[in-house]
Amino acid sequence: MFTQHRLIQALFREPVDRTPVWIMRQAGRYLPEYRSVRNKAKDFLTLCKTPELACEVTLQPLERYPLDAAIIFSDILTIPDAFNLGLQFVENEGPRFLNPIQSLRDIEQLPTVDPETELRYVMDAIRTTKAALQNKVPLIGFAGSPWTIATYMVEGGSSKSFSKIKKMLYAEPEALHRLLEHLSKTLINYINAQIVAGADVVMIFDTWGGILSNPDYRDFSLNYMEDIVKNVLRVYEGKRIPFILFTKNSGPYLSAIACSGCDAVGLDWTMPLDKARDLIGHKVALQGNLDPAVLYGNVACIQSEVKKTLRQFGVGSGHVFNLGHGIYPDIDPEKVTILLEAVHTFSAPYHKS
Ligand code: CP3
Repeated sequence: MFTQHRLIQALFREPVDRTPVWIMRQAGRYLPEYRSVRNKAKDFLTLCKTPELACEVTLQPLERYPLDAAIIFSDILTIPDAFNLGLQFVENEGPRFLNPIQSLRDIEQLPTVDPETELRYVMDAIRTTKAALQNKVPLIGFAGSPWTIATYMVEGGSSKSFSKIKKMLYAEPEALHRLLEHLSKTLINYINAQIVAGADVVMIFDTWGGILSNPDYRDFSLNYMEDIVKNVLRVYEGKRIPFILFTKNSGPYLSAIACSGCDAVGLDWTMPLDKARDLIGHKVALQGNLDPAVLYGNVACIQSEVKKTLRQFGVGSGHVFNLGHGIYPDIDPEKVTILLEAVHTFSAPYHKS
């Protein structure tokens, strides 16, 4: 008999035997086996663009740990790379675009991207990984939010002040809306293609939504994510596809995010789960929200912080355990074993009927 995956059940707030858990950036530099493949692949982008290697590193954390999901190894910047903005990952610096967006003219000239052509390597990685997983755990597909991708395209890389994109927001709002519209359309096709290729769950990362003023968050980030939620496949081949929306520092906007039509909301550690559950837990599932720095702590510390997080959510389904942001590259991989054991052991009593 086919039983539904724990992750999918929790995302739809259906009963589970224990809280499902996966880790943002679970395939990453904290794993020696990742660093080894990454060194062989020359650089990070080559790794993303070689489906067999992307599949191999996606599976690495699952070989080591009893996780409840795989997340396809890729990046939110595959989209602007497909727009030919000249993406490079500079060692110890992060992403950089040789041709950033500087004007309305640049925006008008952005090409239309076909996910099965320019981004075929992502779809091939999903197809290869999906076959290798043999349905043992669900595969999560993902994309960046239009706003978060736009910040990288306009800033030309990572930023501290976000002055270029904020200048565009206040000085040329129509231009920025044109860019966000183009990104939304592209992302709808991209996410749908990921679902058709085999993604069982989809997640949008809005890492930089929290730097916007309130109500600009609604106009420049949430509205576009809502447009995506409403226009992507929510059922495919008879299976419902859960949609997770993660905005970092989203505390002030939780009610609005929960009304977007998504199935689950990702939270960072600044928002206590009990408060979030009171506010929106009757509408959507919650994912998160352990501070990734807890993994620097000892066994007792990790166990106590896991217990605290589980206690905050409380009894019943609708919680997917995760960190509040990606795992840091200098975390000892043993600490992840401790974390997962703690979630498995301490969450079961919250699910007894
Ligand atoms: O979670 C996973 O295991 C899936 C893989 C994944 C990566 N990036 C791999 C990656 C996911 C989901 C992302 C999303 C992503 N990428 C986000 C949103 C989530 C977040 O972290 O806020 C953002 C903002 C990016 C853009 C990006 N990619 C930056 C700023 C950097 C450099 C910073 C860093 O950590 O080095 C990357 C590179 C990147 N993406 C790495 C990985 C494993 C490190 C690359 C390497 O050196 O091997």
